[in-house]
Amino acid sequence: MKNMTFAMIKPDAVRNRNTGKIYDRILTSGFSIVSAKLLRMTKSQAEGFYDVHSERPFFGELTEFMSSGPCMVLALKKENAVEEWRKTIGATNPDEAETGSIRKDFATSIGENAVHGSDSDENAKKEIGFFFSESELIANK
Ligand code: RTP
Ligand code: MG
Repeated sequence: MKNMTFAMIKPDAVRNRNTGKIYDRILTSGFSIVSAKLLRMTKSQAEGFYDVHSERPFFGELTEFMSSGPCMVLALKKENAVEEWRKTIGATNPDEAETGSIRKDFATSIGENAVHGSDSDENAKKEIGFFFSESELIANK
């Protein structure tokens, strides 16, 4: 069954003009875009989004970075979308990311790693709901 995942093109990748190249990877990897928009998170929105990491030492740096400029948020659809998108983006640290993965090709460091992907169906649902209303998700269901 086709299901959805949540993806972000992070501020570093938008700043480095890689949005189009990453869109191309999304589409050639077989994902359909259900919804997408460009926005800039406030620091407190970024803190809410990454709440699971609030006790981690990099939380301040992470939320500063995620609110430092615009990012593209997307709801993506594919068979086994969560796992497939995690494979497409590669490991968190670009030094460990697989050849051909988005992070291998576009991330500059473990912190500024170009893209986000949900890690479970449950979190995908939560993260899509964080940014999109039901009426924004009907275009390509
Ligand atoms: P994401 O949630 O953004 O898709 O990344 P992920 O699952 O691969 O990694 P996660 O453990 O959830 O970490 C979230 C984001 O925090 C930043 N990070 N910095 N400096 C560090 O050691 C460090 N570790 C993680 C990264 O931007 C990572 O994507
Ligand atoms: Mg994560």
